[in-house]
Amino acid sequence: MDLNERILDTNEHIEDEENQLRPQSFDEYIGQTDLKKNLKVFVGAAKLRNETLDHVLLYGPPGLGKTTMSMIIANEMGTHLKATTGPSIEKTGDLVAILTSLEPGDVLFIDEIHRLNKVVEEILYPAMEDFYVDVVIGKEASTRSIRIDLPPFTLVGATTRAGDLSAPLRDRFGIVSKLEYYNESELTAIIDRTSQVYHMDMDEQAKRELARRSRGTPRIANRLFRRVRDFAQYNGDDTITKSRTIEALQSLKVDELGLDDVDHKYLLGIIQRFRGGPVGLEAIAASIGEEPLTLEDVYEPYLLQKGLIKRTPRGRVVTELAYQHFHISKES
Ligand SMILES: Nc1ncnc2c1ncn2[C@@H]1O[C@H](COP(=O)(O)OP(=O)(O)OP(=O)(O)O)[C@@H](O)[C@H]1O
Ligand SMILES: [Mg+2]
Repeated sequence: MDLNERILDTNEHIEDEENQLRPQSFDEYIGQTDLKKNLKVFVGAAKLRNETLDHVLLYGPPGLGKTTMSMIIANEMGTHLKATTGPSIEKTGDLVAILTSLEPGDVLFIDEIHRLNKVVEEILYPAMEDFYVDVVIGKEASTRSIRIDLPPFTLVGATTRAGDLSAPLRDRFGIVSKLEYYNESELTAIIDRTSQVYHMDMDEQAKRELARRSRGTPRIANRLFRRVRDFAQYNGDDTITKSRTIEALQSLKVDELGLDDVDHKYLLGIIQRFRGGPVGLEAIAASIGEEPLTLEDVYEPYLLQKGLIKRTPRGRVVTELAYQHFHISKES
């Protein structure tokens, strides 16, 4: 196996693990109560009218269940899901090929929809609104445009950055929903389900501890669960206890709030090098050797939600809470 294959192989492995844990129906999907309640009504009503569901845009930080929800929408509508991603559609022809292969009522899932290029995106406008595409055929003087009708379909778009979507695209989604971080009891329920899927018992206290340290994110909860399970099985435990959970998470450098190495570097970087801020994102990123985009999409949303940082017009500021978290007193 060459290196590329091995990389692919590992990715597949991770994807398999994720798929194994994916809930299949609204009822199995834990949390996101408001979103679920609304979608249930919209799906139910569309089915009653024998129509396709209006286009849905799901946005929010990574790992909160956007892909999972798109699969559930297709399941609940009783149709098929075709999945693709924004950056993988390079030419208009690629998108036309996908659109013309849809069956009536299908759900087309486009992940990272904010990364569609402009020309491709424009093909989507009439496709979403009136279910047709115009394609240009022929060469030079003899080019002409032909119209291809499409079957009615539902586009489900997912993005971590709703702000990067152009207004015309955003406006064509009839249902726009934000996914929120999960609270401790929802994550406990997700971990409970994961422990059942893996046939590995976990004490109630241990589940709560893991839930608290999972950054409000099911994907992280599931990933940490697998690592904690490794520690437990390696040590011959048949149930995962709270102390084993804490031991494992300490080894993984995940603290009581679920903050990891990068969060620590980020917060301590602002405190120690920029006297608590305000400081621009680029400067922090450069000082700790991380990509600004990654910090903005993956790390900052949780730190903001936890009240550890604030965004101000002059840059990021670390709050009193962050100082307390590190037991550092703020110099005046
Ligand atoms: N509400 C939920 N209940 C139970 N498990 C969930 C829930 N939401 C997500 N998960 C689990 O978390 C994992 C990640 O979810 P998913 O892939 O849907 O996230 P995502 O929002 O699409 O992330 P990304 O933005 O990175 O694509 C999945 O394996 C899924 O099993
Ligand atoms: Mg996804």
